[in-house]
Amino acid sequence: MTKIQIRRERPDDEPATRLVHAAAFGRAGEGEPAECGLVDALRLSDGWLPRLSIVAEIDGVVVGHNMCSRGHVAVAGGVPVACVGLGPIGVLPEHQSSGVGSALMWAMVGAADALDEPLIALLGAPDYYRRFGFVASTEVGIDAPDPAWGPFFQVLPLTASDSSIVGRFAYAAPFDDLG
Ligand SMILES: CC(C)(COP(=O)(O)OP(=O)(O)OC[C@H]1O[C@@H](n2cnc3c(N)ncnc32)[C@H](O)[C@@H]1OP(=O)(O)O)[C@@H](O)C(=O)NCCC(=O)NCCS
Repeated sequence: MTKIQIRRERPDDEPATRLVHAAAFGRAGEGEPAECGLVDALRLSDGWLPRLSIVAEIDGVVVGHNMCSRGHVAVAGGVPVACVGLGPIGVLPEHQSSGVGSALMWAMVGAADALDEPLIALLGAPDYYRRFGFVASTEVGIDAPDPAWGPFFQVLPLTASDSSIVGRFAYAAPFDDLG
């Protein structure tokens, strides 16, 4: 059985994580995918959450990576509630469907819960993320930054969550430049 090791990313992981996202999100003939630039911009932003940005290694090689950054839910009449925005997450194509993405997800969810983060938000395929407990954000009263995202915008409320956290979610600033 393949041994997947999970740890926080380090500064020297930057080239390897770029390769991961370039391969995971890249399309033939289209140049570097936007996710590579997003990862760079998030690392430079004050919204980056390094403690929740994690790599997966197999035999000492980085094969998967996820970024987390500071998002907020704009609660009506209150102070915006800080929470976690997940993304991007990517796994090298040759290592997909062997549990690497799940290992990253569970590590990140457990760490965020232990850090008393109230919820994690992401944009992605419900068929994948529901296995980790994510639900359509509107089921728990949270609106996507773009209403057109519909059920693809999902959240996972954690132990520190409560029913007062309702409103529109906003990602860290670098996501605004993604288009
Ligand atoms: C999504 C991704 C991170 C999952 O990583 P992974 O290591 O392949 O995931 P796991 O091995 O834990 O799980 C694989 C399972 O997820 C399913 N899966 C993967 N992507 C899926 C998707 N977009 N929709 C539905 N199911 C998906 C696979 O079919 C497989 O199903 P199975 O368990 O029934 O066999 C990886 O496929 C990837 O890098 N994809 C390209 C980049 C991307 O789309 N990232 C997510 C958006 S930010």
